Amino acid sequence: MFKVIKRSELAPTEVEMIIEAPRIATKALAGQFVILRIDEFGERIPLTIVDTNSEKGSIRLIFQVIGKSTAQLARIRAGENIKDLVGPLGKATEIDNYGNVLLVGGGVGIAALFPIIKAMKKAGNHVTTILGAKTAELVLLAKECQTYSDELIIMTDDGSLGTAGIVTDAMEKIFQQQNIVKAWAIGPSKMMKYCTLTAQKYQVPIYVSLNPIMIDGTGMCGGCRVTIADTIKFACVDGPEFLGNEVNWDEFSKRMKQYQKEEVSAFKRYQK
Ligand code: FES
Repeated sequence: MFKVIKRSELAPTEVEMIIEAPRIATKALAGQFVILRIDEFGERIPLTIVDTNSEKGSIRLIFQVIGKSTAQLARIRAGENIKDLVGPLGKATEIDNYGNVLLVGGGVGIAALFPIIKAMKKAGNHVTTILGAKTAELVLLAKECQTYSDELIIMTDDGSLGTAGIVTDAMEKIFQQQNIVKAWAIGPSKMMKYCTLTAQKYQVPIYVSLNPIMIDGTGMCGGCRVTIADTIKFACVDGPEFLGNEVNWDEFSKRMKQYQKEEVSAFKRYQK
């Protein structure tokens, strides 16, 4: 059992949880994730580790309520427990002093990007961060991202914060102004695909973090398979980060929608 120490709502559908998990807290690196199960009948939910506190033995998770399992998770209060929490899983981001790096986060993907921003800054990089969301209230962790960024650009669809527009508009400007060595993008698959195309235009390698359905998280079930450079890979052990230009985006998008009908009807049943 893993105790929820703190629970707060960052936005109407975005929930933050601090969970007691001392062994994970001492080992986790930027880019890694956990798989949790609320109870013994629960679906397995993969979530990026946003932050750790090894002294307190806790990890920080942020998720969006998008279906039955995340709605159920959001109902867990401080002091209550989660049955299983496995991690840290996946390969960590390769952190190094590259020089000028660009980090792009969209929606709840900002939470997954935050540990990379922090680690890149600590490694001595010049960090430019672009955060994008539909509205101001969905721009998560803006202040914390600002702390670890040399430059922070915010884009919202409706212009309620920062500039009205999409993250690729800001990427174009940064690529024209700076000699960016490497870039990372985390967010919805469509956003990551277009970030990849923009980076490719400027011949900058860009890494994306893929979040397909996961079951065991150990490379055994094949549930998280993705095609990378025409080869089958498992996001849980080979990823979750891959070079964006090597991802088969059409297949990935299709697989992400594979159980959409079932997910919608399970959520409706749960909400009744
Ligand atoms: Fe089973 Fe990756 S989750 S192989």
